[in-house]
Amino acid sequence: MLLKPYKLAVLVSGNGSNLQAIINSIERKELDAHLSIVISNTKNAPAMVRAEKHGIETIFIDPANYSNRKSYDQALIDKLKVASIDLICLAGYMRILGEEFILNFSRKIINIHPSLLPAFPGLNAQKQAIEYGVKFSGCTVHFVDAGVDSGPIILQTAVPVYDNDCEESLSKRILRQEHYLYPKAIAMIIENKFNLNGRTVTSNKA
Ligand code: GRF
Repeated sequence: MLLKPYKLAVLVSGNGSNLQAIINSIERKELDAHLSIVISNTKNAPAMVRAEKHGIETIFIDPANYSNRKSYDQALIDKLKVASIDLICLAGYMRILGEEFILNFSRKIINIHPSLLPAFPGLNAQKQAIEYGVKFSGCTVHFVDAGVDSGPIILQTAVPVYDNDCEESLSKRILRQEHYLYPKAIAMIIENKFNLNGRTVTSNKA
């Protein structure tokens, strides 16, 4: 009997280097998944070009065509349901998802954030880290809940912050780690190698 492929959707707004890392992992067969759709809320996002180059379906949902968040999110929900998506990966998606969206896909939405959460949630996490003067920062993959970058943490990687770092140099160092961390976290979920107890995720390699 053939097993149903595990279907991913990636939501993007910008460059899409994390999307690229996911595509590469699938093509190298490190991730046993089918990337069904890439959805963007911004027109001409470089991420969409990356997806198209790999023959992946892309959908631009224009916020200008919707009068409020609820109707926009409903359009998004409809596309994801039609495609029978198993896991939604936010990768530089710069739009807040409403509570109804989150409820529709409980524990099926994950995000990557460029800090060691719970430090520095929200925008400009790398700038926040530099300004605070931390000596280590990093990246976090977490489940998405109704708060801002507040869902259960799946995996994290730390990187040092050097005295001469600026926002750009730290962002680059973190991004390089993101490209390993995100596919690794997705694999953990696909292969069901984790337990979720309250808000604590533990790996279950058995
Ligand atoms: C990454 O730093 C990610 O952590 C954050 O947005 C950035 C997206 O970069 N959520 P890219 O579009 O994947 O290159």
